[in-house]
Amino acid sequence: MCDDAAPLLPVRAIGLAAIAGALVFTAGAAPKAHVPLLGAAVNLSFLESGDARYADTLRSVYRSLTPEIEMKMDKVQPERGRFDFAPADRIVAFARANGMRVRGHTLIWGKQLPAWLEQGSWTAAELKQILVAHIQTEVAHFRGSVRQWDVVNEPIADDGSGRLEPNLWYRVIGPGYIALALRAAHRANPAAKLFINEFNTDRNGVKVEALLRLVKRLKAQRVPLNVIGFQAHVRLDWYPSTQELTKIMRRFTRLGLRVEVTELDVPLGSSSTPLDELLAAQARVYAQIGSACRQVTACDGITTWGFTDASTWLGTDQRPLPFAADYTPKPAFFALLKAAGVRSTVPQP
Ligand code: XIL
Repeated sequence: MCDDAAPLLPVRAIGLAAIAGALVFTAGAAPKAHVPLLGAAVNLSFLESGDARYADTLRSVYRSLTPEIEMKMDKVQPERGRFDFAPADRIVAFARANGMRVRGHTLIWGKQLPAWLEQGSWTAAELKQILVAHIQTEVAHFRGSVRQWDVVNEPIADDGSGRLEPNLWYRVIGPGYIALALRAAHRANPAAKLFINEFNTDRNGVKVEALLRLVKRLKAQRVPLNVIGFQAHVRLDWYPSTQELTKIMRRFTRLGLRVEVTELDVPLGSSSTPLDELLAAQARVYAQIGSACRQVTACDGITTWGFTDASTWLGTDQRPLPFAADYTPKPAFFALLKAAGVRSTVPQP
């Protein structure tokens, strides 16, 4: 188990933490321990809503941002060959102004595709060209500001088959679309860390095995791939223990990859259990996952999919995130920070 003492950090990291304001890291005795970067997905309309609590919490607590929708293909390339980066640029500007990292999400996925793409009928050659041009243009646009990309999102089928998801790219191009995408992203920015990002691989099962097979195939073909993203959309009755997640992550890090938790949230569900008990149970889930990332040295970050229950894809009533809808920190927030080894000056109520 991880101890309470925060680890020794390089001076540069302490300096960055000081800039972040509300987070304070202190030196401790364990030079090998590491502190994952804390991140959140950002809802641009909330960021620009004029409610200062949204931006203030984000900039004082988080060090990494993921645009929730603005970098997806339907937003970025609404018509073939016409790219619109303006909304994503505004998130990147906010991140830069506050010294935060940006995770690019996502280049190639079977969902949130533009209508022109979904409704067209394409040959394999045409779709390969579209895939490469999209990646080339988006990665190049953000070359100076986005150094990690979810190149392929959710490639594994979620039906228990252990096959690749039969999305548009797979149906038309075949399984080679994944290597094609990773190679195109690498060419467009050789310095970027390239991710495969997946859900329901946070617990043992056929999907983990399928993802491992995919990664081994890609490695054998010398395809550039650096990181596996564990989305961690978990539930109170479906989540990994620290031990389970640690073991899964290490199966990937042993292949030379790094890992991150990329979209963590824990909805409360629909039980009649009293709210304070549900919030305590939720905090325990956050702690299990935070500890796993803390313990796996190659786990570089923990990003929640949003940060306030006021803005979540699961619905505010599910209260899945570390801050309540009124921006007060919940038990989950303190549990996550403690487990991940991050000290916060946000006062505990
Ligand atoms: C979700 C967003 O949160 C929603 O606002 C949007 O309508 C649909 O997509 N896995 C992913 C994310 O990789 O991109 C998804 O985000 C949530 C599931």
